[in-house]
Amino acid sequence: MGKRGIFIAFEGCEGAGKSTQMRLLSEYLTARGVEHVITREPGGGEISEAIRKIILNGKFTAMTDECEALLYAAARVQHLADTVAPALERGKTVLCDRYIFSSFAYQGSGRGLSEKFLRDINAYAMEKFMPDVTLFLNISPASAFRRKHGADENDRIEQAGEAFHRKVYEGYLELLRTFPDKLIAVDCSGTKQETSQRILSILRRGGFIE
Ligand code: TYD
Repeated sequence: MGKRGIFIAFEGCEGAGKSTQMRLLSEYLTARGVEHVITREPGGGEISEAIRKIILNGKFTAMTDECEALLYAAARVQHLADTVAPALERGKTVLCDRYIFSSFAYQGSGRGLSEKFLRDINAYAMEKFMPDVTLFLNISPASAFRRKHGADENDRIEQAGEAFHRKVYEGYLELLRTFPDKLIAVDCSGTKQETSQRILSILRRGGFIE
């Protein structure tokens, strides 16, 4: 059996620039011939994308916080089976837009669900598939929304309001303290290229890329 691939997750508030940074990292990996897949949570495959539509549907205002958390956890398990595990087994690097820390930040700090409940429903993912490294693109929700010119009115989570997104951000800051070796903050105050260079040095330092 070959070497297992490297699992890299990206975290941050809405509009932190995750997709741009994932694209720049992907270009870097492609230029060096590193096989990789780009995927996202909730989503990735057909079933998890279907779950994603239920979670984010702006009409479902009556969805309970527990139901929301369970749907994210369900989408995660399916995504691991469909996309992440097969790629890692083939030795590919996986770049994943959001993962487990999103649940702690959004459903934990944002919605107020207990850490125990979130750990329980995510135990499978946490025991079997913790990313080798998670990069937190550190930008406050206020500046992030300014960058992307406001929230999407059809997206239930983006519509959750400023106070909610502030709590999510505080949650991430707390997670940085709790998981200092797993979650690494990236300063995003400069240009896209500068942020990308910062990401590359963090990954090189950790031995995740050449
Ligand atoms: P998405 O459109 O991918 O947002 P972004 O571009 O900001 O990543 O939608 C994902 C939304 O789901 C986003 O608002 C964060 C939220 N989310 C959670 O609340 N919990 C989770 O566990 C995950 C993976 C995402």
